[in-house]
Amino acid sequence: MVSRNREKFGGRLAVILAMAGSAIGLGNIWRFPYMVGEHGGAAFVIVYILATLFISLPVFLAEVMIGRRSHTNARDAFARLSRHHPFWRTAGYLTILIPTLIACYYSVIGGWSVDYFFKSCSLAFVHTAPEEVSGLFGSFVSSAWTPVLMHLLFLAVTVGVVAGGVKSGIEKFSKVSLPILFVLIVVILAYSVSLPGAGSGVRYLLHPDWSELTPRTFAYAMGQSFYSLSLGMGAIITYGSYVSKKENILVTSTGTAVSDLLFAILAGFAIMPAVFAAGIEPGAGPGLIFQSVPYVFAQMGETLPVLSSAMAILFFLTVIVAAMTSCISLVEVGVSFLMERAGMKRGRACALLFLICGGFGVLCSLSFGPLRGVQIAGMSIFDLFDWVCSNILLLVMALLAVLFAGWILPRRVVHDEFTNGGTLPVNDRIFPVVYFLLRWVAPVAVVIIFFTNFML
Ligand code: TRP
Repeated sequence: MVSRNREKFGGRLAVILAMAGSAIGLGNIWRFPYMVGEHGGAAFVIVYILATLFISLPVFLAEVMIGRRSHTNARDAFARLSRHHPFWRTAGYLTILIPTLIACYYSVIGGWSVDYFFKSCSLAFVHTAPEEVSGLFGSFVSSAWTPVLMHLLFLAVTVGVVAGGVKSGIEKFSKVSLPILFVLIVVILAYSVSLPGAGSGVRYLLHPDWSELTPRTFAYAMGQSFYSLSLGMGAIITYGSYVSKKENILVTSTGTAVSDLLFAILAGFAIMPAVFAAGIEPGAGPGLIFQSVPYVFAQMGETLPVLSSAMAILFFLTVIVAAMTSCISLVEVGVSFLMERAGMKRGRACALLFLICGGFGVLCSLSFGPLRGVQIAGMSIFDLFDWVCSNILLLVMALLAVLFAGWILPRRVVHDEFTNGGTLPVNDRIFPVVYFLLRWVAPVAVVIIFFTNFML
């Protein structure tokens, strides 16, 4: 993520693709559907869309501007633009902490995908009756060793890539795998809505039950939106620093946010109908896609076994690649920090991060099995990690970014960044609206949602 010779992206499409590549990941395929299921179905989806457009998009713009203006990595960006104010120098450290914490449990889900890839290769879904296929997940996740080993395997490969610097190879790979994943999601969607009983899943996503709407829905929807767009942790600031001065950041930011949103919604429509068809509880939690997608493959396997197996293998492979590219950038943040600030060699920094994320990740993984009984503030260890990151730290950091752009940077600078020195007439015209969102709407909304989440 941190590069000394700051390269530039070549053109608008390249910027959108790179940012969307970071944004689209397990957050869309795995996290979004289960959040929808746990926090109120269509009502959650609507809040999520509104939060993305009115809160996340301004935060996204703020981060891109901070990156492009400061021309440096996330931690130093705040320091440099605030002329080394001690508060902002310290705040920058959060951008190191959050990705490292997320990597701990992101790699657990990466491990699940690896296991499901192996299961697909051994034709497990085709050889299991559709009604029983969701039960495979329960026995997998509650067995202590397999998920832990898969997590460590996934993390070892990820850290190995970071250490070996074959990152660019993997990133090229992801350029191919993301479109494949997209096509597969659309095919799964088509098949899944045609399953008997799928209609209630579609209705669940389209007809909001407003009684499901609680202050928590807002907090979780906003957290999901930040998470999915990789906001609040320096990723977009770093990408912003690669964006050329000529680029219209309104277009690239909106392009990224909308493609991320679309991908999530597609995943929702691919998964929820299958959840209902399979008779799985929508609030089943983090295992949701591992229970519902294989059900689709098992159903398809009854008539088209070869196609179904091939699709299952390709699906979990592309999920692994999407997860790995994200996890690489999450780990890279900590690695470059240890290298630059603690003077560590790359290899050692990687080893240390493997130990930290591996260790905490094992606890997260075991919290679905032997440590299921361990509850902290009513949450399992896994849920606690996710909640602390997505519902607390991300909101705090996104708030800081938006306050920084709205209140610390002079209006002139923000205007200059947003309109490329006044050369973009459309941007110039809507600047007052964007500046108002940035200065008032986004920060006030984040603060209100943050506190009601605790008080109600
Ligand atoms: N947005 C990614 C997803 O939806 C996860 C993520 C969060 C991420 N922060 C990141 C990926 C930073 C890369 C870099 O899965």
